[in-house]
Formats: sequence, C-alpha cells, structure tokens
Amino acid sequence: MLVPSGGAKREALRVNGQFWTPDWVADAMVAYALQSGSDILFDPGVGAGAFLRAGRRLRGTRLQLRGREIDPAALVAASDSGLSPEDMAGVELRDFALHPPNEKFNAVVANPPYVRHHRLSEAAKRSLHSFARDLIGRSIDGRAGLHVFFLLRCLNVLAPGGRLAFIVSADICEGVYARTLWSWIASRFCLDAVVTFAPEATPFPGVDTNAVLLLVRHDAPQKDFAWVRVATAGGDSLTQWVNSGLPNASKFSSLEITRRTAEEGFATGLSRAPVESDTARHCLGDFARVMRGIATGQNEFFFMTAKRAEELEIPKRYFVPAIGRMRDVQTEPFTTDDLRELEAANRPTRLLSLGDEPRDQLPVALQRYLQTGKEANIPACTLIATRKPWYRMERRTPPPFFFAYLGRRAVRFIRNQTEAVPLTCLLCIYPFDSSADNLERLWQVFSDPRTLANLRLVGKSYGDGALKVEPRSLQQLQLPDEVLLEAGLLSRARPKQHELGF
Ligand SMILES: C[S@@+](CC[C@H](N)C(=O)[O-])C[C@H]1O[C@@H](n2cnc3c(N)ncnc32)[C@H](O)[C@@H]1O
Repeated sequence: MLVPSGGAKREALRVNGQFWTPDWVADAMVAYALQSGSDILFDPGVGAGAFLRAGRRLRGTRLQLRGREIDPAALVAASDSGLSPEDMAGVELRDFALHPPNEKFNAVVANPPYVRHHRLSEAAKRSLHSFARDLIGRSIDGRAGLHVFFLLRCLNVLAPGGRLAFIVSADICEGVYARTLWSWIASRFCLDAVVTFAPEATPFPGVDTNAVLLLVRHDAPQKDFAWVRVATAGGDSLTQWVNSGLPNASKFSSLEITRRTAEEGFATGLSRAPVESDTARHCLGDFARVMRGIATGQNEFFFMTAKRAEELEIPKRYFVPAIGRMRDVQTEPFTTDDLRELEAANRPTRLLSLGDEPRDQLPVALQRYLQTGKEANIPACTLIATRKPWYRMERRTPPPFFFAYLGRRAVRFIRNQTEAVPLTCLLCIYPFDSSADNLERLWQVFSDPRTLANLRLVGKSYGDGALKVEPRSLQQLQLPDEVLLEAGLLSRARPKQHELGF
C-alpha cells in the first residue's frame, strides 16, 4: 500500500489514517529514539513498516522490533516491503489507543493515524476522553482527533529517560485543545526539538496537512528547544543533524535552526515560527465580534440565482442578498456593482429568508415551493430538522467587514459595502462602534501588513501553506500597538478580554 491517489482509496485511508513516513524522515526519527540506548524500538501504528525498516537499517538485527497495528492489510504491506517474519514477530494486531501495552519503552516512534473526532465511535471517544482526563487531570476538547490520544498514550508508555519521535499534523499544536495538552506535556517532559517542513519539503505530498515532528524525552523539562525548518525534501541532512546531537547550527543549507524558549514556543504554538516581538496588547475581539456566516442546511434549496427566483415567481421581499462562495468576492471593497455583476453572471445571490410567518399567509408560489421541499424530504436534513418551522432561516445583519478564512493567499479582510450576508464561506465582523469614522480606522488596521502577519498566530495551518482561521481565533488576532496608534484606535480598545491563544 502506498500514499493514496484515487478517491475510494483516500476514503479507506481516512478511516484508518494511513499515510506512510518516507525513509528520509523515518531514519531521523528512529535515530533520535534510539539515542536513548534502547535495544527495543516500539511503533504503535506500524502500517507498512517504515520505522521498523529504518530500525533495521540503523541497527541491524540486534534491535528488537515491537509494534501495534489494527489493519491486517497494512501488515501484509509491511512484510512485502522487506520485513521478515522474525522482524514482524513483535508486532501485535491490536488497537494501541484503546488497549495499550502495559510495558514501558525507551524508544518510541510514531506517525499516528490522522482520524478526525467525528470518525471515532462514541464508545471509543468516551474511553479515550476518560483516559486523557485521568492522565492529565483535565478534559480534552471534544474536537481532538485520534492522533491527540496517540500522543498521550505514547508519552504514557515512555520509560523515564526514554525518547519519543512523533510526526503529526500541526493541529496538535494549533487546535482548541492545544493549550490543555501542551501545558501538561510542558510540565512533565523535555521537548528537545520541533521540526517543521516548508510546503515544498512536506513528507506527505498530496496530503492536506502541515506536518510537524516532535522530539520529546521523558526527562525534566528544559528552558529551550531547537526549532527547525526543513527547506528541501529528501537526503540525509535531518538524520545527520540528529546524529550530531541536535546542534544549534547546521552545516546544511536545507535546515534552518532557531533556539526558542519553551515558554514562547508553547504560547505561540510549536508549529509556528517564533514571534519576534510581542508588542500587541489588544486583539480584534477588543473592537469587534466575529460570527460565522449563515448555515442554510441545504444551499441548493434555499439559495438561488435571481433568474430561478423569478421563474419560481417568489417575490423579492422573501429573499436577502447573499454570498455563497469565497471566490464570488474578488474585489475589495465589495460593492453593489459587484453584487449586480454576480447576478448577471447567473451566480446564486438570493437567500430565501423566512421567519415564522404562518405558511398559509405566504404567497401561493412560495407555498408551492416549500411543498416541493417537503416532498424532497428537506425538513429531515441535519440542522434543518432542528428548526421550527423547518424553512426558518438564520438571520445576520449585513456585516461591514467579511473575512475570507481559508486559503494560502486568500485569507483576508474585505469591506462589504452591500446589503449582502455571507453563507458559511465567509466570516462576519461586527465592530462594537459602527460609525463611519471607526469603520475607516478599523479598515486601516485590518489592511495593514503588520496585522495580517499575525494571522499565522491564530490560524490552523494546512498542507500547502494554507491557513484556516475560525471565528473565535479571529477574535484573538493581535492588533499591533503601533498599527492601532497610527489609526487613532489605541485609546478606543475595550478593556482587554481575550488572551492570545493557540
Ligand atoms: C499514519 S500510518 C503510519 C504508519 C507507519 N508507522 C509509517 O509511519 O509509515 C498509521 C497506522 O496506524 C494504524 N492504526 C490506526 N488506528 C490504530 C490503532 N487504534 N491502533 C494501532 N494502529 C492503528 C493505521 O492502520 C496505519 O497503518
């Protein structure tokens, strides 16, 4: 089995989170773990055996290989990849997250399955959350995926003095649960290094995650750690750097190494580059509230082109103008001319926006349309089923600012000079003071490159350098003091309510 290409394969891989580690990364990880002096190497999700093979390459047959795997097909792939039956003898076909071994290990290497929380069974979730609560004394947010519990399990099977090399999606440092998770890890383990990869150097090409490699020792925490950015994929520079004891400088141009304090690293998020100077005392949430756009539950039914609305003979007053996809907002500011152009291009711009008007008092054409929805079973759709009546739509005041929250370069603020509201493709920003003067000043702040540079501190990073910024995270966006001062807003901030989070 190899890294996925087709859609069906990708779906199968999503279920078990199977992405194989390339040799140039596996070698460096195994080299680090074995520096503990251990003659046993443990991999909790063996897959096609990348780490076990690396162990054989580095230490020959003296090394004992142990592991877990839940997918028999992956183990066939491991055998096909050159591991002998003796090599595989220490690999158990058993769930590591739910039934971990009792034994402790000095060398653990893992590329955990990347399985999102909604793909875990309720029983598994309950068991994993209860384990996490017992271990760290606090609950982990329900949105944590299986990889988060794998990390806790791996740390829990790590013997004192043992080493763990763990390659994982950056969201382990950026997700809502990151603060709880890392404050526990930071107080009990020693973080030696974090290795990040430029988009061109990703170990998992074609997979939409930003990988980080964590090198952790079961020893007293230390004040600082090495933060590495790998610029090019392949070669043995990473392994050589590990073998030379993680020095602060590298003779390899492909590795950029920075020494960071643990305090700054945990506060910024380990996957993110260090924050040079932190002069910001205010964040966006001190000036405005952020909300997601309208979730219709069924865009095909509720959101339509002007042409279709006319064909259905539904009067215009039952619609509000709306934006359905980020790409429809190309201009800055977004004006009524732009909205008209979308309409002329036959893009959907009309959102059926009904309240609790009695159905029999609606125009006959509209009643007819609702009836077609009922016949198509739309009232039973998720979200819609929770509404009373089912066609009652969420309301938003047209926001003076949109925020495009997903993309590589597309993440940006947009002034909205129309009466349009966005669907979930854009966020809505509602300043506490909506006077024209304040909106102008805020725009100056929102469009300043120094403000935009801080988006990486609150966004979640994805495979090709793309960012995603959730509403609550956007409220935590730091607005630099000097930018606020230049816009005449420094004295207008509300008392500080939000702390910078991950
Ligand atoms: C991301 S792959 C990594 C495989 C290999 N270690 C590598 O780095 O190439 C994770 C592996 O864990 C396995 N897996 C998923 N859930 C598991 C669980 N609960 N216990 C043990 N293995 C699991 C998957 O089938 C998959 O082969």
